[in-house]
Amino acid sequence: MTEIDEVEAMSDAGTTVTPPTALVKVTDLRKSFGRNHVLRGVSIEVQKGEVVVLIGPSGSGKSTFLRCINFLEEPTSGVISIGGSVAHCGTHGKAYRSAEREIRLKCGMVFQDFNLWPHKSVIENVIEGPVVVKGEKSQSAVLRAEALLEKVGLSDHKDFFPGQISGGQKQRVAIARALAMQPELMLFDEPTSALDPELIGDVLSVMKDLATEGMTMIVVTHEMGFARDVANRAIFMDEGVFLEDEKPGELFLHPKHERTRRFLRHILPERDDGRMASETGGADLPE
Ligand SMILES: Nc1ncnc2c1ncn2[C@@H]1O[C@H](COP(=O)(O)OP(=O)(O)OP(=O)(O)O)[C@@H](O)[C@H]1O
Ligand SMILES: [Mg+2]
Repeated sequence: MTEIDEVEAMSDAGTTVTPPTALVKVTDLRKSFGRNHVLRGVSIEVQKGEVVVLIGPSGSGKSTFLRCINFLEEPTSGVISIGGSVAHCGTHGKAYRSAEREIRLKCGMVFQDFNLWPHKSVIENVIEGPVVVKGEKSQSAVLRAEALLEKVGLSDHKDFFPGQISGGQKQRVAIARALAMQPELMLFDEPTSALDPELIGDVLSVMKDLATEGMTMIVVTHEMGFARDVANRAIFMDEGVFLEDEKPGELFLHPKHERTRRFLRHILPERDDGRMASETGGADLPE
């Protein structure tokens, strides 16, 4: 039964029901490195325009999850569907390879350590993907790159090299570079965790603008203020599974699992009276 069949079957009055608009649907995704079973059957749907924040302890599989859904790592098994391209992982056939290629092009990824080309200028970094991967004419790629650099507040730095700009500026270039490929989904892997505190705000504000414009985003971050203000959902991941998937306020204030509570105790500020924010109505969650 297809998804649309299912929806029609659910419609008891016989009226037409709008089919689900999930941009991302991941079903039972598994990834092992040898005997290390890192993703142990992860499923998620993300609607177009949703912002999902992923939190969890080190080694729980957050980066591996992001890397698998845009095929920087080859998943062991599971089904990944993004914007209508469906990859049945582990099959390795022609259909799988072509879905993999389509999905890669639909995802933009931003890494903790920027991954810019050090020998290319800011604008060359931004046009590289469209020109080299998509074969776009450099004139139109440059025009779009200039608009994107303006959007991330770096018009004045287009001819600088990565070694000449700050970490926060590098990360904003990395965001512009990912957007230059016109992705349908943006994946962020701890985009601010390598930055000095005073540089974090500018990067978060660019991400917030993107969310406001309707970009679908999956963000691994422990910036709880961002999660609370911008995300529609927050997922707690532990030992290769998604343990809780809730509205951010609900997850932070009323975690259901002891493992979630234990983790939040580490990352949420402790109050003077020793209680955690989840016991105080969240009044002291960081901005
Ligand atoms: N390329 C790889 N080869 C072998 N093992 C790997 C590889 N990538 C990740 N792993 C293992 O997968 C597990 C999960 O790693 P992952 O980087 O996904 O965790 P994480 O939740 O992102 O952690 P962190 O918060 O520290 O970034 C770890 O045990 C790690 O050693
Ligand atoms: Mg990681």
